[in-house]
Amino acid sequence: MLLQLCRGAAAGSFVLAVLFLVISTATAHNITKLLEKHPEFSTFNHYLTTTHLAPEINRRTTITVCVVDNSAMSDLLAKQLSIYSIKNTLSLHVLLDYFGAKKLHQITNGTALAATMFQATGSAPGSSGFVNITDLKGGKVGFGLQDSDDIDAMFVKSVEEVPYNISIIQISKILPSQVAEAPTPSPSEMNLTGIMSAHGCKVFAETLQASDAVKTFQENAIGGLTVFCPLDDVFKAFLPKYKNLTAAGKISLLEYHGLPVYNSMSMLKSNNGVTNTLATDGANKYDFVVQNDGEVVTLQTKVVTAKITGTLLDEQPVAIYTIDKVLKPRELFKKEIPAPAPAPAPETEKPADAPKAHSHRHKGAATPEADSPADSPSDEDPADQTTDGNGAVRLNGWRFVLAGTSGLAALLLL
Ligand SMILES: *[C@@H]1O[C@H](CO)[C@@H](O)[C@H](O)[C@H]1NC(C)=O
Ligand SMILES: *[C@@H]1O[C@H](CO)[C@@H](O)[C@H](O)[C@H]1NC(C)=O
Ligand SMILES: *[C@@H]1O[C@H](CO)[C@@H](O)[C@H](O)[C@H]1NC(C)=O
Ligand SMILES: *[C@@H]1O[C@H](CO)[C@@H](O)[C@H](O)[C@H]1NC(C)=O
Ligand SMILES: *[C@@H]1O[C@H](CO)[C@@H](O)[C@H](O)[C@H]1NC(C)=O
Ligand SMILES: *[C@@H]1O[C@H](CO)[C@@H](O)[C@H](O)[C@H]1NC(C)=O
Repeated sequence: MLLQLCRGAAAGSFVLAVLFLVISTATAHNITKLLEKHPEFSTFNHYLTTTHLAPEINRRTTITVCVVDNSAMSDLLAKQLSIYSIKNTLSLHVLLDYFGAKKLHQITNGTALAATMFQATGSAPGSSGFVNITDLKGGKVGFGLQDSDDIDAMFVKSVEEVPYNISIIQISKILPSQVAEAPTPSPSEMNLTGIMSAHGCKVFAETLQASDAVKTFQENAIGGLTVFCPLDDVFKAFLPKYKNLTAAGKISLLEYHGLPVYNSMSMLKSNNGVTNTLATDGANKYDFVVQNDGEVVTLQTKVVTAKITGTLLDEQPVAIYTIDKVLKPRELFKKEIPAPAPAPAPETEKPADAPKAHSHRHKGAATPEADSPADSPSDEDPADQTTDGNGAVRLNGWRFVLAGTSGLAALLLL
């Protein structure tokens, strides 16, 4: 049906093609599974998993993955790069356009520039995230980095084609990008609080820096760490409550904002459920629920529901996100747990504390972060201030797909 319609009027097929591109956002392929059938690419496949690129690839359509065999992968691994540099290098091998074997051999004017996933992450300066594909004499196809004039690798064969969702092709060698391979500071050298301070979470960072909890964060950064930083206005408003906690409570509150594992944005979107935190010291203690609603990821304690508003840092094994509420664990804020039934006003304070409690309540009411999770006024403001790395990635991808005529041309070949 789709096929016949596409063969119809050019205008009609254009509309269909665009529609097709817009619709095809759901996961339709599984790169891990596709490559499992080909043991000669098992190392490449393994690293797509350990770098968490596999889910990013599965989320996209109209892409080409340029794989190399196990011996070419050993050359890359011999360089002993960090997992972060390996991730950058492999993401340079994911082209944001569909190149089947046929199209590779029919490139208009013999040369095409393809944007890559490395370019789309924003980590690639200048043109370092583009790959130049050239049709050579004798039906050969060469691949090179845009900046180098050399042909760095040759097309070997088509591995899997799922038109026009994903094409997997083998190339002879890893594309040697110094930019992608550049070393990053090792996680143990990262100044986590410095990074947070510079990106809208200064109050949280300073509080963390002044606490012993900072050590727990630094120690975990080596093996894997995800941090959720409340934005400055919300953490500032929370400070009176923070100061009221016991010494142990303060540490638990801060550690509650970290997970002892790395989570990319797409992992957070797909792994809904209860998660342990750095504060967890036994079963069901200091945990919360990660729940996505489409593209929005929320963190739900029994007391509040916070929303992830942006990606502050994503350098595996460390990811830092901004959130719009302070995460209050039920262990420390029992009194604030909202009643399940449509209950009336909050419980009254003990008479002895009355004057104190009264003034505190006033403060609380004046802050943007009200106690009930049902409150919404603070939901909208910070959301747009920080960039969501993931959204940007996809936007770039679409811009490329829609601007490049090659994706459409491929579809029109139907
Ligand atoms: C391509 O992706 C779309 C949308 O994700 C899906 O509906 C379709 O079945 C996929 N095509 C093939 C051949 O798998
Ligand atoms: C993809 O395939 C692999 C291996 O077959 C499997 O372990 C994994 O769960 C699949 N992923 C998804 C998202 O289905
Ligand atoms: C191909 O080359 C011709 C002549 O140099 C030029 O006019 C045209 O724009 C080129 N097409 C593409 C897609 O680069
Ligand atoms: C792509 O590579 C070929 C061969 O090295 C070169 O002639 C061409 O100018 C390159 N194109 C771009 C856009 O870099
Ligand atoms: C980290 O950055 C913060 C704020 O920029 C600074 O106060 C602190 O001294 C730095 N720590 C290290 C170990 O460099
Ligand atoms: C501080 O603790 C006291 C005693 O537990 C409580 O009554 C008061 O409301 C707390 N103040 C704040 C700001 O949470």
